[in-house]
This record gives sequence, C-alpha cells and structure tokens, in this order.
Amino acid sequence: MKWKIKTFLVGLGILAVTSLAACSKSSTEDLSLKNIEEKGTITVAMNPEFAPFEFKTLVNGKDTIVGADVELANAIGEKLGVKVKFSSMSFNNVLASLQSGKADIAISGISATPERAKVYDFSKTYYDSVNKVIIKKSDLEKYTDASSLKDQSVATQKGTIQETIAKEQLEGAKVVSLVQNGEMINELKSAQVEAVVFEEPIAKAYVAKNDDLVIADIDLTSEKSDAYAVAMPKGSTALKAKIDEVITELVDSGKMDQLVQEAYDLSTK
Ligand code: ARG
Repeated sequence: MKWKIKTFLVGLGILAVTSLAACSKSSTEDLSLKNIEEKGTITVAMNPEFAPFEFKTLVNGKDTIVGADVELANAIGEKLGVKVKFSSMSFNNVLASLQSGKADIAISGISATPERAKVYDFSKTYYDSVNKVIIKKSDLEKYTDASSLKDQSVATQKGTIQETIAKEQLEGAKVVSLVQNGEMINELKSAQVEAVVFEEPIAKAYVAKNDDLVIADIDLTSEKSDAYAVAMPKGSTALKAKIDEVITELVDSGKMDQLVQEAYDLSTK
C-alpha cells in the first residue's frame, strides 16, 4: 500500500514538472521569426508620406510606395526568404499596428526612443536623426533662433518625437499636431502656421520642391536615441537578430546612405 502512494506522489511530481515546463515554454517561446517564415510574407507598417524614407510615386503608371525604408524592408524580406507586403497608415497608428498584430514589423523612420523601447523591440539603428525647422523664405530674417518663434504656431506630425522636441526646444511656441505631413506644409505656405519641424532629409526634400520655403538657421538638439530603427513586437529576439544582420551589412557598406540619397534624388526630380 505504502509504495503505491509513493509512486503516485512521484508520478504527480513528474506531471507537475513537465506541465510547468510546457506552460512556460508556450508563454515565452519566441515565434516572431517562425510565424513569418510559415506565412511566407512579412507585413511592414509604414506612413508613406515621408520622403526620402517612404513615399508614393508613379512607377510604370502605377502608384507605388518607394524609398530607403522600402529598400530596407525588401532586404529583410530577401534575408528571410519571404514576400514583403506594405501596409500604409497614419504615423500615429504605425507602432500600435504591431500590438494588434496587423503588421509584423514597422519601418517608418521610427526613432528608437527609450520610452518606445519599453513597449516594442527595436533593431540596431540604421540612420541618425537631426531636427530642422522649415519656415517661409520671406521669414528668414524674422525667425533666427528658437526664441523668435515664441507665441507662434509650429506644426509637427502627430505621434512623432518632433511633437516633444518642438514643445521642449521652441519654448513658448504653440505646437499644432497634424496627421498628414502634406497638410503641415500647406498650412505653412498659407501662413496658418509659421514653422514646421522635420528631420533633415525630410525637411530638405520639402524645401527642394517648394521654392517659397527654406530651412531656418535655428539649432535644435537631437538625442542619439532619436536614430531610426525597425520596430517589432516585444520578445522578437530571433527576428531582431536577422534584421540586425541586414542593417549591419547595409550600414557598414555605406549602402544605407546611398539608398537615402537615391530616394532623395527620386523624390525631388
Ligand atoms: N523619427 C520621428 C519619430 O519616430 C518621425 C517619424 C515619422 N515617420 C513617418 N513615416 N511619417 O517620431
């Protein structure tokens, strides 16, 4: 009788240990890469109104999303041996689409800030970000430093780090957040706002296409953590390792800067 109880208890113990192991396995296992490989497709969230990184242009008469981020996404697709699908949305929905499972990764000139890194995994960075202020050419003498924009309206894109940068560094300015970058430029041209804050390549691309606009001689400081990275759902360790490999290759070879330059030329021609 006694040995029976003993076997029973030992059996129970084994059962408990194995089921515990099974349980912890399923809750922490990193399926990020496996899921994408099984689907054969990687869905990339982006806001394609951000030349030279992602923007729409006609390719053989068809509206197509192009840019340096698109090339990066294609290189990732190639590395993983899967098809790449782009999902366009407003920038303030790009990161959230990872949580809802609508996209596998997000590439949209996203700054890998410590705050965002609490919620999402980030690849290594692929592009350093520097902030610039665009104003009307006719205001060049008027807006010469941050304090000259006091009490003036300054537009930034909703959900971007530029919202915070403008609030913190353009003290006393009225920061207006808009969903669309094109709308910000229109408001600047029609004097609804006096300035717009963008990162340098984006600012340059808009100025190149609008002779009435100019980059102001106003210095804004940028953090190292404002640099761009690919965002993924938390726990995407295996996927991140692959994406980091792609980024290392592109950055170290100088190819990434070349892609930005090519996309810039395409967007301004
Ligand atoms: N780097 C900035 C940020 O992460 C702006 C990104 C905006 N990207 C875009 N595709 N509109 O907040």
